[in-house]
Amino acid sequence: MKALVYNGVGQKSLEDRPKPQLQDPGDVIVKMVKTTICGTDLHILKGDVATCAPGRILGHEGVGTIESVGTSVTMFKVNDRVLISCISSCGKCDYCRRGMYSHCTTGGWILGNEIDGTQAEYVRIPHAETSLYAIPEGVDEDAMVMLSDILPTGFECGVLNGKVAPGSTVAIVGAGPIGLATLLTAQLYSPSEIIMIDVDDSRLAAALTFGATRTINSSDGQAAEQVKAWTQGRGVDTAIEAVGIPATFDLCQQIVAPGGIIANIGVHGQKVDLHLENLWSQNIAITTRLVDAVTTPMLLKTLQSGKIDPSLLVTHHFKLDQILDAYDTFARAAETKALKVIIDA
Ligand SMILES: NC(=O)c1ccc[n+]([C@@H]2O[C@H](COP(=O)([O-])OP(=O)(O)OC[C@H]3O[C@@H](n4cnc5c(N)ncnc54)[C@H](O)[C@@H]3O)[C@@H](O)[C@H]2O)c1
Ligand SMILES: [Zn+2]
Ligand SMILES: [Zn+2]
Repeated sequence: MKALVYNGVGQKSLEDRPKPQLQDPGDVIVKMVKTTICGTDLHILKGDVATCAPGRILGHEGVGTIESVGTSVTMFKVNDRVLISCISSCGKCDYCRRGMYSHCTTGGWILGNEIDGTQAEYVRIPHAETSLYAIPEGVDEDAMVMLSDILPTGFECGVLNGKVAPGSTVAIVGAGPIGLATLLTAQLYSPSEIIMIDVDDSRLAAALTFGATRTINSSDGQAAEQVKAWTQGRGVDTAIEAVGIPATFDLCQQIVAPGGIIANIGVHGQKVDLHLENLWSQNIAITTRLVDAVTTPMLLKTLQSGKIDPSLLVTHHFKLDQILDAYDTFARAAETKALKVIIDA
């Protein structure tokens, strides 16, 4: 089968690989129908993810049809259409029982990282019954792909951890796919303001069409003053970090209102200064989270009922044999205006 393989820092290729086989009774083999590329795949290619070894097939998102099932799998059968979660979970370990699937002792984020992933014609999914979701009739499968990772990430790490509430004020720093997914799901709670902050005007323009109330291009270093001016000098109740660099976490520290929350989503590769000299008296909280994908069934219902439309995030389509072009388009997002690129089988 064809597969996109990580061959070490800066190196990837489309290769012929053997089809995956069932290994454990709880496995299924999925024939991929659609997959996509995540910012985290670009992190892997930069060498930022030590757990991902050269030779790994990348990809942790997608939808497909079941090709074969392990002997203990009763919930799924051959030919079922399924959504693949970016997080594999056994459902039985202590962390899974607490809803913290991301820390599953035999799962977590392993797909396209510690085991071969979804950017291929076929993929082996371990713990299939608790890591796959049946796709209801009639839902848009491009939109479904957004449920593998980015919607649960924005919702769990940003909206839920940030306690977005009716009438509250929210700022989201970073208008990439994750920041925009956070914007879509924050609206389920009717905050009065959602201010999107980025340095890319085309992403800010997209944010306005997705429901942002205001946008700020922070290139001039004046974003904190602008947020304060719009919030009677108080700042925002929820400041969500969706970039993963010191400057943007720092901005969140400057714009969080007394009593507010900084909800970090970004993957940080560098240390960040914590300004307790300013924040000790402000009654704030700071949260961090690796997506658990525990809200996937709930998000699926909001998609089905039309309350959110994640297909807005899809900007480009490619075939699997064009996946190197898809990577190039995704990596040059500022020029190509790419948000999510769908790769069809
Ligand atoms: N916590 C989790 O479980 C989890 C899951 C998935 C992704 N992530 C992380 O979330 C982050 C966002 O992901 P993404 O795919 O949207 O990334 P992305 O790179 O596509 O988007 C980041 C956005 O930040 C903007 N930006 C860059 N520098 C900026 C600055 N100084 N000020 C304001 N904006 C700036 C960019 O223009 C871009 O629009 C990444 O760090 C990713 O690794 C975390
Ligand atoms: Zn991802
Ligand atoms: Zn587990």
